[in-house]
Amino acid sequence: MNLKELVGIEAAKYVTDGMTVGLGTGSTAYYLVKELGRRVNEEGLKITGVVTSSKTEAQAKELGIPLKAIDDVESVDLTIDGADEISEDFQGIKGGGAALLFEKVVATYSKDCIWIVDESKMVANLGKFPLPVEVVPFGSHNIFRLFEERNYNPTWRTDESGELLMTDGGHYIIDLHLEKITDPRALAKELDECVGVVEHGLFIDMISRVIVGTPEGPQTLIV
Ligand code: A5P
Repeated sequence: MNLKELVGIEAAKYVTDGMTVGLGTGSTAYYLVKELGRRVNEEGLKITGVVTSSKTEAQAKELGIPLKAIDDVESVDLTIDGADEISEDFQGIKGGGAALLFEKVVATYSKDCIWIVDESKMVANLGKFPLPVEVVPFGSHNIFRLFEERNYNPTWRTDESGELLMTDGGHYIIDLHLEKITDPRALAKELDECVGVVEHGLFIDMISRVIVGTPEGPQTLIV
């Protein structure tokens, strides 16, 4: 079993009957959704899923997990999602799979959030992984130039055909190659204040625990 599968299965243990569960996106969250699908079908687990991307929606539907839209639930009990980097103080970068906006919306309206990662994602400082910034297409080249002026080394996210990638929300993504983010809170605030930026991949103070996949087994870190 690979480490992503290990943590996906481990995290699914936190899901119990009656819960409304935020279903993350990415190659690690894939295994969580797969395991929840198995439990729904084999054990009769009764849950309502709230998806964070069209990709996860397709997987959950295929598995027969009952779904509701985020706006049709009063609250989400628990969201489980992957992450691209997690620092020692449990802040994170997300959005490698381009789903950061919907992921942050679902996480924000969740009572509890857990991240599941393999051990390679645990870092001393955030920033080696390019920070995704989701922007409105209108004026986005100006935002790109602004990031260049700030020496954030921006690049456009493209799809398989080399076109600018369009997110589920109808926006573009600019990745910032920062190498080291010394003050994630300050950078998050700065990006929040940029007109035309819809969301960014800095997830600050969002989780209660991280389940890390190691060759010795899953390790649960409480925040
Ligand atoms: C999706 O936009 C992301 O936030 C993912 O949750 C994150 O990139 C982790 O993905 P993997 O589990 O595929 O590494």
